[in-house]
Amino acid sequence: MELTIEQQLSAISHEAIRAKSKNEIQQLANELLQKMTLTEKIGQLFQLAPPEANVEGLKWEHSESNASAQLISAGKVGSILSVVDSSTIFKLQKLAVENSRLGIPLFFAADMIHGCRTGFPINLAMACSFDPELIEKSCQQIAYEIAHTGLNLTFSPMVDLVRDPRWGRVMESNGEDPYLNSQLAAAYVRGYQQGDFSANYSVAACCKHFAAYGAIEGGREYNTVDMSERELRQHYLPGYKACADAGVASFMTSFNIYDGVPATANKFLLRDILRNEWQYQGFAISDYTSSYEMLDHKTAKDEEDVALQCILAGLDHEMVSTSYLNHLENLVNAGKVSLDLINEAVLRMLQFKFQIGLFDNPYKHIYANPEQYMRNSETLELAHQVALESVVLLKNSHDLLPLSKQGKKIALIGPFANSNQVVGAWGSLAKDAECVSLLTGISSLVGADALLCTAGCAINDQDRSGFAEALELAKQADVVILAFGEDQNMSGEAKSRAYLNIPGVQNELALAIKALNKPMVSIIFSGRPLELGWYAEHSDALLQAWFLGNESGNALASLLFGDANPSAKLAMSFPYTVGQIPVYYNQYKTGRPSPTGDYSLFRSCFIDVPNYPLFPFGFGLSYSNFEYKNLKISEKTLVAAQQLIVSVELCNTGVVAGTEVVQLYIECANFSVVRPLRELKAFRRVFLEKNSCKIVEFTLTQQDLAYYNIDMKFTPENRNYVIYVGGSSQATLNANFSYSGEG
Ligand code: GLC
Repeated sequence: MELTIEQQLSAISHEAIRAKSKNEIQQLANELLQKMTLTEKIGQLFQLAPPEANVEGLKWEHSESNASAQLISAGKVGSILSVVDSSTIFKLQKLAVENSRLGIPLFFAADMIHGCRTGFPINLAMACSFDPELIEKSCQQIAYEIAHTGLNLTFSPMVDLVRDPRWGRVMESNGEDPYLNSQLAAAYVRGYQQGDFSANYSVAACCKHFAAYGAIEGGREYNTVDMSERELRQHYLPGYKACADAGVASFMTSFNIYDGVPATANKFLLRDILRNEWQYQGFAISDYTSSYEMLDHKTAKDEEDVALQCILAGLDHEMVSTSYLNHLENLVNAGKVSLDLINEAVLRMLQFKFQIGLFDNPYKHIYANPEQYMRNSETLELAHQVALESVVLLKNSHDLLPLSKQGKKIALIGPFANSNQVVGAWGSLAKDAECVSLLTGISSLVGADALLCTAGCAINDQDRSGFAEALELAKQADVVILAFGEDQNMSGEAKSRAYLNIPGVQNELALAIKALNKPMVSIIFSGRPLELGWYAEHSDALLQAWFLGNESGNALASLLFGDANPSAKLAMSFPYTVGQIPVYYNQYKTGRPSPTGDYSLFRSCFIDVPNYPLFPFGFGLSYSNFEYKNLKISEKTLVAAQQLIVSVELCNTGVVAGTEVVQLYIECANFSVVRPLRELKAFRRVFLEKNSCKIVEFTLTQQDLAYYNIDMKFTPENRNYVIYVGGSSQATLNANFSYSGEG
């Protein structure tokens, strides 16, 4: 009698995969390649989104002739997109392994970018932790969940540098700084892949979107990108390079162009940089139909031309669209594409599958009843810890926070007061219903007796009927907590905003409540920096809560009542207004600097807002009070092979222990090309008991001073430099030194 699916899944072995050497993998792949027909080879270059795929957004409607099962059984599919149900994965894999002539297994990929079944904070929030170690550990645990869904690869990390909060996808980025982006990018890859993939619960990662998708003009989704090669190399490439150096299994091309050529068919990006300069060995996959979209870019005359340009440029795997499937064979047979190019791409795909053990066990990540492995205490505890380190304290007048747990009647008001809509975009398998609301978190911590709660209004409509009740509760309270923000579906892919206001009538409600003159804490939920000028001026305390996932309410309650001490620092600047954008800390020097950043005639500034952001990169407060002094550097002149030791004394003169993210920036006093005002070169999270001090040391080398100079050489020049050390990009404690390449 045929076993049930459950019985078959339960019978799958999950023996650890033996790690293979690079040579062994290459040999195995080459041996298999020799047996393959051209049709089968091209099948390995195609990622199918079958009807069971959970694809959000544009649906590929050209697949009527590509009935999934037939394609898979004919060995014409290399991987599957966005199928996350283990029994479906099992069914599709069996088709490939048992029906196709050579039984080459599929790999299964989906977007699990800030958690899997457990919702972690959105990536921009996690970036504010400045905690690569915690992110790596979290990704290991997220990989544990992913590996129990049946998936082999996650389309993460996204490492597009971002400077424009109008873009909805800043929520999945690591923010505006190349160094922070690089440090976190590598941490994601290490956490997911855990070395050679032999760890049972490792998954392959995918570095995206290559390249410079975050620089889309106007922050408008899928828009064009245009920048100099120096700008690309200096600021936008480091995050991708960090992924390559960390051994990321794959790269995903971006929707945008670079230097006039769509990234998916961009030889400069895919061959000159990725393959030749970086010697990258993994595979390059397109984004969702990004190859086919060359027809809209009008750089390809037809689908066959799309296939030709992409394979020549070095694209190995086509996501969803079928240019390769439909045209590569003809191109080879017509002599327009050499078989070597096909073999090169196929070998990368086969090596990947050997590397992750799919030929040892095609069902290695498929489990009966996967739910039993999800949301375990270790994963939830990590999600909680990350949430604690992601919330940025932007203001705390008169130490209003932390609140005392007894004796205060609290009015909790706003659409996020009792909302669990806080998974954030790209929430994968996390569920809103499993997110702890702010009300629940506070009630669990301090009891509900002293809590008055009402939404007062919705997130984004014009209904003011709830104002009266909200004002009534505020009148009864000793302190008011506003929980305001934008809907989680207002950020993420295809969610660019031309305005950055808190939507609906929330700001009106805030004004009305402020008129009651109660102590007021504002907590902002958003996937991007919003315009918080009024809240910064009129709240007594202000917290940026992003979207924190499952542990949202518990983490916020711990921070509000002092069970935890905020330590996060902004990974992206907050503008005064959308009209100020782009505003980021590492802007280039200009010929007419505005000394204070405020208005001065005939200087580079606005007449109606300051030049600097409302809250700058690297800024964040604590319940402790950190002071920096005794900045020392080991050399007044750093010569080529030397190291510069930078030490600073950090003291916590506050009343509670806390963690400070100590940041080190350099400013190059002059250079053969214009350089940014400041450049982050190091950071460290430092824990200090109250009334204690610690010497914090950093080491700089000539590599840290290097920049793409007038000759496009990445090098330091014999110049003078300034070091700034402090708790934000506006640090003032500084020391001067010079660099001499001689000696
Ligand atoms: C989407 C996104 C990309 C994602 C892919 C697969 O369009 O741009 O980040 O990984 O399609 O879902």
